[in-house]
Amino acid sequence: MSSLIQQMRSRFETALTDAFGETVSGTDPLIVNSSNPKFGDYQCNVAMSLTKKLKSNPRQIAGTIIEHLQIDDICSPPEIAGPGFINLRLKSEYLETQLNAKLTDPRLGIAPNRDPQKVIVDFSSPNIAKEMHVGHLRSTIIGDCIARILEFEGHQVLRLNHVGDWGTQFGMLISYLQEKYPSALTTADVLDIGDLVEFYRQAKKRFDEDEEFKEASREQVVRLQSGAEDSRRAWELLCEQSRREFQQIYDRLDIKLTERGESFYNPMLAEVVADLEASGLLVEDQGAKCVFLEGFTNKEGDPLPLIVQKSNGGYNYATTDLAAVRHRINTEGATRLIYVTDAGQANHFAQVWQVARRVGWIPDGVDVVHVPFGLVKGEDGKKLKTRSGETVRLRDLLDEAVKRAQEDLETRLQQEGRAESPEFVHHVAEVVGIDAVKYADLSQNRTSDYIFSFDKMLSLQGNTAPYMLYAYVRIQGISRKGSIDFEQVGDRASIHLQDPSELTLAKHLLQLHEVIDAVAQELLPNRLCQYLFELSQKFNQFYDRCPVLKADECDRSSRLALCHLTAETLRLGLSLLGISVLDRM
Ligand code: ARG
Repeated sequence: MSSLIQQMRSRFETALTDAFGETVSGTDPLIVNSSNPKFGDYQCNVAMSLTKKLKSNPRQIAGTIIEHLQIDDICSPPEIAGPGFINLRLKSEYLETQLNAKLTDPRLGIAPNRDPQKVIVDFSSPNIAKEMHVGHLRSTIIGDCIARILEFEGHQVLRLNHVGDWGTQFGMLISYLQEKYPSALTTADVLDIGDLVEFYRQAKKRFDEDEEFKEASREQVVRLQSGAEDSRRAWELLCEQSRREFQQIYDRLDIKLTERGESFYNPMLAEVVADLEASGLLVEDQGAKCVFLEGFTNKEGDPLPLIVQKSNGGYNYATTDLAAVRHRINTEGATRLIYVTDAGQANHFAQVWQVARRVGWIPDGVDVVHVPFGLVKGEDGKKLKTRSGETVRLRDLLDEAVKRAQEDLETRLQQEGRAESPEFVHHVAEVVGIDAVKYADLSQNRTSDYIFSFDKMLSLQGNTAPYMLYAYVRIQGISRKGSIDFEQVGDRASIHLQDPSELTLAKHLLQLHEVIDAVAQELLPNRLCQYLFELSQKFNQFYDRCPVLKADECDRSSRLALCHLTAETLRLGLSLLGISVLDRM
């Protein structure tokens, strides 16, 4: 079944056709959550958008729509308000039936999409031998959440890690490897070269200081590109070392990814250029092959070129992305391509897709979207750095979050006079620390910069992971104390709604579906965070007003069921954010 908003929308569609026939075909009766409960729960303003077409006044149009609208199984009689809004109020019997059906369904009544798509989510994508920095962390957390939501909706999702595993820097790295570990290129032993980022720094230093080394590095690039075995082996070795380090972060964050780095597209690059040539788009400019872009100009107002092959024959980042678009659409058969990177790459993608569109590689019906995000800043409002001014390593950042979570926990245990095993403390600290980092990122509108603050993200107050985890533990605790097995009881525990706070909570519980749909559409995870935060607040209002465990039998089981559903909704929602819950904390 589709979300409630979807269902109401299709009722309106039918009513519109019944009332006005062909004149209104294609009109989208948008239904939104009512901003003020005085005006009901949902609102439709389609009447206003039809005045021109129907040459009539909106209140009159609204009246005609209502005459044809069949919605009394869901709502009490719709009301016309103001210039022509149609206000809808849900019936409590409808809410009760819906909630009762959710009680026994692990998907909480949200059926998979009937029209699943093949979607590629390109996220994380760090660069070999370089630091996996906080920007990659953002991409990893946001990309994973988007993938989880689309997977839950039933889409076929391919999670691709487009790692930077190719490029001229490998010449320098291989030369340096050869110099420092001469045996590395000839023996089959696994080599541990330690901190790759430090290795990169030293190699770069050699490169900048020594002409001979520079020359050797250039030769290495050519050797690698032509497939020389020893160079290839050195390259593999460097990639393998990086991969191991990335994997530790992914394991810790519970992230699944398929690595398909830039090098994967190497065999396709010549063809990309040849096809661009054949299409007549390619221009030679000072020896480089490029396509002149529409709508991108330099300071002088001349069109900017997108270079696809440099004058020395080398390809670049854009060429690889052109090959990737084509492969993802033609070979993978994806109809939605999602790229999660910092906002700074917006132009890069716009340019690549413009060229791909002009040459016909992105057919109609295929959606290609950039999911940009802002910068991560320190509490001083500047770029996030360590005290000594270096870039923050992800591992250190996660360690620090876990360490602080543990300190907070130990203080709390002491205050509460609780004794817990070291295993418990470690486990809770790890989960809370990692969850806090993820949630802090996801709860912001991703397009804005965000300030990284351990204190804020670990606070038990506000829209934070610890607050949400705590809410879950508490609510689940209540429903557990009632010891009702909701799988078994069926009708006995059926929900009936009386108190206004119960109705408010019930309506909110029912909105999960439309929120998930909205995130799948707009790719803004913060909407789900906001929903869950409000859910826990609405639960608190209910719990303040309505006794649960001490209520008489009939109310008791109904309210316990409401607690249970709230806990399950929190758990499902958090799991879609990639946040794991705890039973105790
Ligand atoms: N490796 C790139 C970076 O670190 C991100 C790659 C994003 N994906 C893509 N298909 N270009 O900025």
